[in-house]
Amino acid sequence: MKLSVIGTGYVGLVTSACLADVGHEVIGADRDADRIERLRQGRSPIFEPGLEEVLARGAASKRLRFTTDTVEAVRESDVIFITVGTPSLESGNADVTAVAAVAETIAASLTDYRLIVEKSTVPVRTGERIRDQIHLLTRGAVPFDVACNPEFTREGAAVQDFMHPDRIVIGVESERAERLMRDVYRPFDCPILVTNLATAELIKHASNAFLAMKISYINAVANVCERVGADVGLVAQGMGQDARIGRAFLNAGVGYGGSCFPKDVAAFVQIASAAGYEFGLLKEVARINEGQRDVLLRHLTEALWVLANRTIAVLGLAYKPDTDDMRDAPSVPIIERLCRDGAAVRVYDPVAERNARRVLPEVTYCADPYDAARGADAVVLLTEWPEFGRLDLTRLRDVMRRPVLIDGRNVWDPEAARAAGFHYAGMGR
Ligand code: UGA
Repeated sequence: MKLSVIGTGYVGLVTSACLADVGHEVIGADRDADRIERLRQGRSPIFEPGLEEVLARGAASKRLRFTTDTVEAVRESDVIFITVGTPSLESGNADVTAVAAVAETIAASLTDYRLIVEKSTVPVRTGERIRDQIHLLTRGAVPFDVACNPEFTREGAAVQDFMHPDRIVIGVESERAERLMRDVYRPFDCPILVTNLATAELIKHASNAFLAMKISYINAVANVCERVGADVGLVAQGMGQDARIGRAFLNAGVGYGGSCFPKDVAAFVQIASAAGYEFGLLKEVARINEGQRDVLLRHLTEALWVLANRTIAVLGLAYKPDTDDMRDAPSVPIIERLCRDGAAVRVYDPVAERNARRVLPEVTYCADPYDAARGADAVVLLTEWPEFGRLDLTRLRDVMRRPVLIDGRNVWDPEAARAAGFHYAGMGR
């Protein structure tokens, strides 16, 4: 099939590369000329394991190409995916300006039937609004359908998730749209759930908010564990062995970040409120999440007494491992607080340094974890990159001024850390 994908951010890039990989002809469009030029040279603008290989296969097979010309992309494809960004507004609502602008461009380029698919994470009823606006602009003269096809891939595992989804959700309003969407996803071996537009949109909100709720739930439990001498890791294991609960997303720590959960929880609260329902549960989910930063800082202050004039080494800046994404990373407010309190901060992240420099200019970037720890009064771990779990703790201790380990992601074995001579504090253990 001939497809186009408008917007080459995380979702758009993975979608276009993977759909080309399964045999479709795909045009990726973006108004950012530098980005398109980079992609034409086969370079991925983001760090995402496996993506450059899939992009290279797409270029070699000539099934994947990139353009800045959205009009051409619309004209040359049967199905058009909208994957532009929907950043958070001050109010918590998602900013859908870019989606609306793409809908206008599509309307202006329509000459015969097209299926327009919203794949960006958007507020419920966006599909309906895209449909109505295109209908108004084309005065009903050109047939088209709008579908909603929410994306459930995770950054850092996006290619793997896209190629092997648990399910594919398709919101449609006509049989023709359903048929086309089923054709797009024919190469994939997983259940396909077909719903109306609003239901598909709601499935995305409800899924992300539920996962965020699982994380805040275990973080709240972790706070109780600390007070009663229980170990949250084992609590999560015991809970997770119940098939109705499941172990996934029960890792306690400094909380969730990234471009999705913080933004999506806030947006879902706003959407529910606008629809007349106060989603107090989700407000609490966000509050618990932000409180986890204070928990970590409390552990640090407990160990060091004061933060002024202390040197703190921070290991891990990205909001999670296997990504260089710094959006809403817990490291940012935590490090800003450390700096405000007069601490000197030395940091190390295996891939996020380039992005981190833009948001955290006032810290010292180090070459490796031991370099970061040199002369430090404490090491604080904020992202569970696998290499941190393999550090030689004795070597780490020997380069530090005070042997203090604050483990924001429960990576190290507390006994091993204490045996290596550390004052150790994890989250809920
Ligand atoms: C999330 C969802 O998992 C995807 O299904 C969805 O498609 C995506 O948002 C999106 O809406 O685009 P993502 O934000 O890439 O994916 O990453 P996750 O692996 O879900 O992690 C999110 C945050 O939760 C990270 O900061 C991670 O450290 C934190 N987390 C995750 C925990 O603190 N504890 C856990 O047990 C799991």
